[in-house]
Amino acid sequence: MKKYLKKLPKEVQDFIHLIAEVAALRGMRVYLIGGFVRDLMLGAKNLDLDIVVEGDGIIFAEDLAGRLKARLIKHRRFATATVIIGHNLKVDIATARSETYPEPAALPLVEPGCVNEDLKRRDFTINAMAIDINGSSYGSLVDIFAGKNDLAKKKIRILHDLSFIDDPTRILRAVRFEKRYNFRIEPRTLKLLKAAVRKKMLEIVQPQRVRDELILLLKENDPICRLKRLHNLVGFSFINRRLKLTKSNYQLLKSAEGEISWYNRVHSRRRPLDSWLIYFMALLDPLSVADTQEVCAKFVLRKGEEKRILSYKKIDKKFISELSNLRLKPSRIFQLLEPLSYETILLIKAKYGSPGVRKHIEEFLKIYNGMRIYISGHHLQSLGIEPGPVYQEIFTKVLEAKLNGLVKTEQEELALIKELTKTETGYGKA
Ligand code: CTP
Repeated sequence: MKKYLKKLPKEVQDFIHLIAEVAALRGMRVYLIGGFVRDLMLGAKNLDLDIVVEGDGIIFAEDLAGRLKARLIKHRRFATATVIIGHNLKVDIATARSETYPEPAALPLVEPGCVNEDLKRRDFTINAMAIDINGSSYGSLVDIFAGKNDLAKKKIRILHDLSFIDDPTRILRAVRFEKRYNFRIEPRTLKLLKAAVRKKMLEIVQPQRVRDELILLLKENDPICRLKRLHNLVGFSFINRRLKLTKSNYQLLKSAEGEISWYNRVHSRRRPLDSWLIYFMALLDPLSVADTQEVCAKFVLRKGEEKRILSYKKIDKKFISELSNLRLKPSRIFQLLEPLSYETILLIKAKYGSPGVRKHIEEFLKIYNGMRIYISGHHLQSLGIEPGPVYQEIFTKVLEAKLNGLVKTEQEELALIKELTKTETGYGKA
């Protein structure tokens, strides 16, 4: 493996040597393991180092972080830790352990172990390799399941027949890795995967664990092809019993993909999108509001995620027909779209792409969304207006006028306020 390690940036190689040195001082052995080794051998960029320690991983992590004066996050419950060095180097440290599953799909019972035992608890052969970085064994591959061979043959293979029963989230992981590397799930693994699906294992496992894997799948490049594969192999009843990938839903996913890349091209300086959420909302599109709420509750989605999903769900015909009206005033476009998230807005654009909807959403994102007024509370105070809710009313009116092109400069805004305080009751002077 030395030839692979030599291809790493110099600072990473130095860092790996340092890891081994710190471990040796404690008489512990350390290994690079899992995704890092897989990606190193594939030549895929991955600077998230995965390390296992034969010994107490937390003590090792404390030593390493102390030596580097780096940030340390400890997860005592799992005997794991993360050391973060600078902006782009991160190392996940785990105590080598063996796992046994007390019952199907349950959380495993964990005991400290050696590197071989740690490899045995893993999902696929390509993820079950380690590189010894200790002393004279530096660079030797630990490959007890012939993962190297599977990497060369582009195969996703589980380690033992009960793998999907022990941990059904591996069903989603198999699809994720297969598509990411353009590999194939090999026949026996596929057979066992299908058997686990027939046993409805994905419906037995804790939903939050399924959710986390589903989100990872939706965050990969080209999630639609993964969803298609997942639908063919598994169906979507593990999300909701009524959910299927219909033709129109597939088309919605495709146009959502188009809108995401439009946004990333045209509005790259705005906040990054949660594009996984847009795909998820598109996937749930055929469901009723009640079923969607059930999905959000089952997967214990965050409040902000649930809010965005339901706000899309509640878009009705009246909203769309108003937004489609090409004579709509900018201030009204603003009122309609401002309360919604970018994710929701883009999915509306993808689904109801009438010329009016498209035009208004594009204008909203380009012009109205960032529009600010010059006047502030200080201006109003200096005009002698008594502070109170009236301030917000005035700001809203000025913004409306600005959106509609009636005022442009600070002077014009002030003139409008003077006009308002003259004509409107309630804008009382102090
Ligand atoms: N793992 C597993 N079963 C799971 C989740 C993880 O066996 N359900 C193991 C795999 O061996 C994996 C390692 O834990 O390599 C780390 O998991 P994770 O960080 O999710 O995977 P990576 O392989 O690092 O994948 P990615 O490149 O997507 O981060």
